[in-house]
Amino acid sequence: MDTRPYIEKHKQRFIDELIELLKLPSVSADPHFKKEVLMTAGAVKINLEAAGCDTVEICDTPGFPIVYAEKIIDESLPTVLVYGHYDVQPPDPVDLWNSPPFEPVIQTTDIHPDGAIFARGACDDKGQMYMHVKALEVMIQNDSLPCNIKFMIEGEEEVGSVSLEWFLENNKEKLANDVILISDTGMISKEVPSITTGLRGMSYVEVEVEGPNRDLHSGLYGGAVANPINILSQMIASLHDENNHITIPGFYDKVEELSDEEREKMAEAPFDLEDYKKHIGIPEVHGEKGFTTNERNSIRPTLDVNGIWGGYTGEGAKTVIPSKAFAKISMRLVPNQDWREITDLFKTHFENIAPKSVKVKVKPHHGGQGYVTPIDGIEYQAADLAFQETFGKKPVPQRSGGSIPIVSLFEKYLSSKTVLMGFGLNSDAIHSPNEHFGIWNYLKGIETIPYFYKHFTKLYKEHKQ
Ligand code: BES
Ligand code: MN
Ligand code: MN
Repeated sequence: MDTRPYIEKHKQRFIDELIELLKLPSVSADPHFKKEVLMTAGAVKINLEAAGCDTVEICDTPGFPIVYAEKIIDESLPTVLVYGHYDVQPPDPVDLWNSPPFEPVIQTTDIHPDGAIFARGACDDKGQMYMHVKALEVMIQNDSLPCNIKFMIEGEEEVGSVSLEWFLENNKEKLANDVILISDTGMISKEVPSITTGLRGMSYVEVEVEGPNRDLHSGLYGGAVANPINILSQMIASLHDENNHITIPGFYDKVEELSDEEREKMAEAPFDLEDYKKHIGIPEVHGEKGFTTNERNSIRPTLDVNGIWGGYTGEGAKTVIPSKAFAKISMRLVPNQDWREITDLFKTHFENIAPKSVKVKVKPHHGGQGYVTPIDGIEYQAADLAFQETFGKKPVPQRSGGSIPIVSLFEKYLSSKTVLMGFGLNSDAIHSPNEHFGIWNYLKGIETIPYFYKHFTKLYKEHKQ
C-alpha cells in the first residue's frame, strides 16, 4: 500500500475543498452564527457522502447537530470511530488578523515553507477532521480500506460538547466500535512526530462580585465603600501562593503524582526553552515551583483567569466605583481530579474568602475529566507503526495540556479507548488570531491515517486468535 501517488494527484482539490469548508463561520459560542453552524453540518455531510460513506445523517440534538456516517464493509472486521468537530472558536480579536478569519488564504511561514492555510478552524479542527474524510477517499479509491469506519463529527466541542453526552447515552449501539480515532491535538514538530497520550480535564466557572446597588461617584463614596473590582482582584490574586501553588483547600488531594522515572522519561522529549520563550514573546517562563515547563503545562493542574470585566472601559476617563465585577476562570485538571468536586471546592473557597462588604456568586459553566491513554494497547501500537511508515521514525508519546472532555465519556458510555493522532503544531495559533494549518501537515495526515487502519486491523486480527 502506498497512499502517496493518489494524494499527489489530487492534493490541489483536497486543499480547495478544505478552503471551502473554512469559509463557513461555524462559531458555536455565538448565537448570531446559528445558521452558519447548521450550514457547516450540511457541508460536512455532503463531503462524507462524496468520499464514499454509505450512510450519512445529520442527527439532531438539543443543541447543534452531530454528523454521523459509516462505511461498513464486513461485520467481522474491526470498526474505527472517527471523532472530530466542525465548530470553531470565535475569531476575536478580529483586528489582529492579517487576513479576514473566514476568507482563507495560503501564506508561507518559516515553519511552513510549503504554505499554510490561514483561517479560523484551519487546524482546530476542520483541517484535522477533514484529513480523515480525505483519508477515507484515498483508501476507497486505492481499494485498500481494511476495516469498518464510522464518523461522528460534532458542532459543540468549543462550548463543552454539551449535547454529545446525551447522544452517546442514546446511541450506544449505533456508535459501537473497537477504537476511537481523533486528530484534534498536535505533534512536537514536523521532524518529531508524537502521539498524545493524555489530556487535561477542566472546570470552568464564572464569578460575580457585587458591591453597592448602583455605580457610585468615586469621589463621594471612594474609600468608604468596597470596590468590587478591587476586591475581585485581591480574591483572584490570593488563589496562588508565592510558589504558584493553588490555595484552594483540597485542590491537590487527588492529583496523580508521577514517579521520578516517569518524569525522567517525559524530559527526554525534545524541547528548547529559549525557542519556547522567543515564539510567544515572553522574557521569562512562570509556574509552579518544582516543575519544568513541560510538566507545568501537562501533568500539573492550573487555575487561570480568562477574562475580567466591570466598571468603565470606554474612551477617556470616568470616575466610578462599579456596582459589580466579573471574571471567567478555568481550571485545568489532571487524572484523578474530579471536575465536579473541584468546582464545589472552588465555590466554597471563593465564597469563604469574600469579605462581608460584598456578595459573591459562583456560576459553574462546564467541565470534564482528564484522560490518559495506555501505551501498551494495540491502538497505541497501530498509531506508532503508522507514524513510523510515513515519518521514518518512532513517534514520541506526549501528554498534552489541552482538553477534549468528551474523550473520558467515550470510555464511560462506549467502553472505548481513544487514540490521539494530532498533526497540528503549537505555533499554528489555535484559538488565537491568524490560526493556520500547514499544507505539509495536512497532506502528511492524509498520508499517515490509512496506515493506522492497516496496522490496527492487522493487530486486531492477531490479537483475536
Ligand atoms: N482541540 C482542542 C484541544 C487540544 C488542542 C488538545 C491541542 C490538545 C492539544 C479543543 O478544540 C479545545 O480547544 N478544547 C478546549 C476545551 C473545551 C471544553 C472548550 C480547551 O482545551 O480549551
Ligand atoms: Mn479542537
Ligand atoms: Mn479548540
